[in-house]
Amino acid sequence: MTWWRDAVVYQLYTRSFADSNGDGVGDLRGLIDKLDHLAWLGIDVIWLSPVMPSPNTDWGYDVADYCDVHPELGSLSDFDELIETADRRGIRVLNDLVPNHTSDRHAWFVDARSSVDAAHRDWYVWADGRGDGEPPNNWVSSFGGPAWTLDETTGKYYLHLFLPTQPDLNWWNEGVRDAFDEIVRFWFDRGVAGFRIDVCQSIVKDAELRDNPAATELDPPQVRLYGQRHVFSGNRPEVHDVIKNWRRIARRYKPERLLLGETYVWALDALADFYGLRNDELQLGFNIPFVFAHLDAEALHAIVDDVQRLFPRHAWPAWTGSNHDAGRFPTRWCRGDERKVRCALLMLLTLRGTPVLYYGDEIGMPNTPLELDDLRDPVGLRFYPAYHGRDPGRTPMHWNAEDGAGFTSDVVKSWLPLGGYESCNVAAQRNDPGSVLHLTRDLIALRRSSADLRRGAYKSRVPHNGLWVYRRGRRTAIALNFSDEEATVRRLKGRVLISTTRQLDDQDVGGAFSLGPWEGVAVELAG
Ligand code: GLC
Ligand code: CA
Repeated sequence: MTWWRDAVVYQLYTRSFADSNGDGVGDLRGLIDKLDHLAWLGIDVIWLSPVMPSPNTDWGYDVADYCDVHPELGSLSDFDELIETADRRGIRVLNDLVPNHTSDRHAWFVDARSSVDAAHRDWYVWADGRGDGEPPNNWVSSFGGPAWTLDETTGKYYLHLFLPTQPDLNWWNEGVRDAFDEIVRFWFDRGVAGFRIDVCQSIVKDAELRDNPAATELDPPQVRLYGQRHVFSGNRPEVHDVIKNWRRIARRYKPERLLLGETYVWALDALADFYGLRNDELQLGFNIPFVFAHLDAEALHAIVDDVQRLFPRHAWPAWTGSNHDAGRFPTRWCRGDERKVRCALLMLLTLRGTPVLYYGDEIGMPNTPLELDDLRDPVGLRFYPAYHGRDPGRTPMHWNAEDGAGFTSDVVKSWLPLGGYESCNVAAQRNDPGSVLHLTRDLIALRRSSADLRRGAYKSRVPHNGLWVYRRGRRTAIALNFSDEEATVRRLKGRVLISTTRQLDDQDVGGAFSLGPWEGVAVELAG
């Protein structure tokens, strides 16, 4: 049963979702209290950014213990209760798995760095410098600077593709592989429906630690930024064996557990490879070029078309506009224009594949502008003011217009500042059938009721002047006017199932009809 294909996934950052005890930090009990909202919205699966114990130098992505819950967020028994309560509402729970690196406070690393003979020494990547204080090779950290730090105790460098407090594991070591098999089973046995896998593409490094080649003008800006292609520091063919092994484990469970990869690759054929030639790797992989594309019909159509062309038959796409790294699409794609937010939601929820929403997407929540003093993300702290980091997309959920936004009772302590919750919040939008929240809910319901939208084939016309028209299955068509001008949709006849402005809902359209600027419709085709 490929349950993930029919699902709508919802990512949430537990720290920012709902605070049950007034310490300003969202927690599992707060989340449990909000499951009714997610059930009402029609969400099938929630993905929690890491909830494991962590010194939080990278906010949970530096894990100090893979088989427990961070005390600020709750306990393992809260986690069990979450799974049970969610299950009663038909909602599955995904955990985040961070196999590329641990925290430097993890017992494995504490042991590893203590001596060259330590039991866990080879669990991490150690190398000698190149003399003159030069690190072992030219690899750079995604968070800036060299990917190597000299460890005084043993005089060797250790590798970290992210912060120095996030040492990379050595996936050539069998002990590491066995330890993760156990971690994966630990959570599967507890009832998690699967994992989102962090930095999926880079887990295995070149065994010889060769220098990365320089980036060229042909590379996307995000690659050129680092001056090099990650040819040897990741994207190695051997990563596929690791994923295959997890998939074998996932298959042994009923229902089958899901592996959703953070496949941070810029070439869609490389993304396709992560599904495995025999449907034996990830069931879903994030599409990074799509996330970072502009809200532009031609650009998005080209990506969706490539996916159609390059993915093997068994591979199922995932579509997302916001996450805890890229920030929120209502800002990045839409610059706060609600018409665009509505169009983007119609697109995300009607493309062929599994949509992954981010908490707040359902109300069109924008990024929160922050000052230096507010920042908690190490990346923002390092690059401010050129880049404010990822905190603007991680601020607390807007539940209502009261002090604390319904997120916390103690506004002063809220771990990141609250955004503009007075003007954009769940409570107000629930009372307004014309709101973005109701549109999201109605789109999810439509998707659930329509076999065309869930599983139907995708066939698109080539966009023209920002008008993108595609068909799903036999009887359903989507028309999106991604432009500032009115557009005429031709050769589409039927009944409007839903429109972004709600003005055309249930109307018959025939032959040719017009869409306002940034307006979209889903149409049930006649005959
Ligand atoms: C992934 C996560 C990001 C984190 C990084 C290091 O890209 O999504 O939030 O900082 O990995 O774990
Ligand atoms: Ca709390």
